Amino acid sequence: MGSLKKNGGAILSRIATNDHHGENSEYFDGWKSYDKDPFHHSRNPCGIIQMGLAENQLCLELIEGWIKDNPKASICTPEGVGQFGDIAIFQDYHGLKEFRQAIAHFMGKARGGRVTFDPERIVMSGGATGANETIMFCLADPGDVFLVPSPYYAAFDRDLRWRTGVEIIPVHCYSSNSFKLTVEAVEWAYKKAQESNKKVKGLILTNPSNPLGTMLDKDTLKNLVRFVTRKNIHLVVDEIYAGTVFAGENFVSVAEVVNNVDSYEVNVDLIHIVYSLSKDMGLPGFRVGIIYSYNDLVVSCARKMSSFGLVSSQTQLMLASMLSDDRFVEIFLTENSRRLKIRHEDYTSGLKKAGITCLTSNAGLFVWMDLRHLLRDRNSFESEIELWHIIIDKVKLNVSPGSSFHCTEPGWFRACFANMDDDTLHAALRRIQAFVSKNHKIVENSSDSDQIVQSNNVKKQKWKQSNLRLSFRRLYEDGLSSPGIMSPRSPLLRT
Ligand SMILES: Cc1ncc(COP(=O)(O)O)c(C=O)c1O
Repeated sequence: MGSLKKNGGAILSRIATNDHHGENSEYFDGWKSYDKDPFHHSRNPCGIIQMGLAENQLCLELIEGWIKDNPKASICTPEGVGQFGDIAIFQDYHGLKEFRQAIAHFMGKARGGRVTFDPERIVMSGGATGANETIMFCLADPGDVFLVPSPYYAAFDRDLRWRTGVEIIPVHCYSSNSFKLTVEAVEWAYKKAQESNKKVKGLILTNPSNPLGTMLDKDTLKNLVRFVTRKNIHLVVDEIYAGTVFAGENFVSVAEVVNNVDSYEVNVDLIHIVYSLSKDMGLPGFRVGIIYSYNDLVVSCARKMSSFGLVSSQTQLMLASMLSDDRFVEIFLTENSRRLKIRHEDYTSGLKKAGITCLTSNAGLFVWMDLRHLLRDRNSFESEIELWHIIIDKVKLNVSPGSSFHCTEPGWFRACFANMDDDTLHAALRRIQAFVSKNHKIVENSSDSDQIVQSNNVKKQKWKQSNLRLSFRRLYEDGLSSPGIMSPRSPLLRT
């Protein structure tokens, strides 16, 4: 592969040979490390635990139960095979009517029933990945800019930019106000982009946020809708975690805001929603992505483009049936939130015992961990990567460093908590606790990570790299010869 550019560059396209795929980051490197050494409770107890994958495996058995109870929904069962001929040959890029209706209905339910969606505006794509790229193709030309609040979903660098030629300009958010997005920050980024002669075509948000797990409040969303309308640029909201909210206020969809803002303040032609069943239903393998636009031309163009990423008609048929089963959907969504809440509490309280706090969050499949106190140098991204290497190589956890989400402050890490069973989560927590306890003394009742003091090097001394490494050696020499020994009962991690 390394020789691709040298030898093949001349005969391959610019896209094939450019680096805009964004895969040269620790976010993807962590997955590769995990793949080489995956944790397994009996076969590989010292392996890496995957905490870099935002996948929801907490409710899969509910879906399995529904499938068993509804064999007619599948064309690969004796009960459903009668539909095989019709479904297997179905090719229309509009999708099955019943699928679009069921998805529109489900999207409303996943948003608490406070909004409705028109099935005629539902456009399919290969996951939200395909949806985000398609919407960029519809809205922007190569070299045009989309503003993206940072920290942002690491794969946006690939999905929004790589094949489209669109550029991303981050709207930086900071820990000083809990990384909240403000209209002022967007205005500032917009102004700066214009000053450098960039053509800003829009703003794209993830709400709820990946990687923060937080939600935008209604007023901010309203002001953003007003802002894009004033500037005549697009607003794309990736709401892939709309139904993955487990505490606090109700989630506010941009669809709700569009109905609540005075009509002269919103140009609905500029508003687009991206959705998927990958998170809320835990079905990333089904590749069901949705583009929902209020703009007729965008719907029409995206639908033509959807030929490149259709959802298989077999999947459409099954989901049409499952998602229109109101009772099942209600039970599923409620139970999913309940389990996520318990899991989130379990994980964050375990971290707290190790003196680690997280950004307060109530959505998503991850937490935004504050490990700033563990950095050798609090102001350096080298220190963040150094710590990340130690966590992955020695503690054997694949968490993702904030820099891979374009966070401007070193020391924040995203850790996913719903892609494993309880035992694996507890094994991960034991590893973190053992790591921290060997290196730190926690101030009693501390809720602020800044109050955590280093015990190895007494207060005033700076953390030295050699020291950190030394402590690890001691950690394992002290009888914890491998992280796996701390997790004897963890079953196979399915990823
Ligand atoms: C914000 C966001 N958008 C898009 C995606 C991609 O989702 P899909 O699996 O539906 O392509 C993810 C997956 O992690 C995500 O977090």
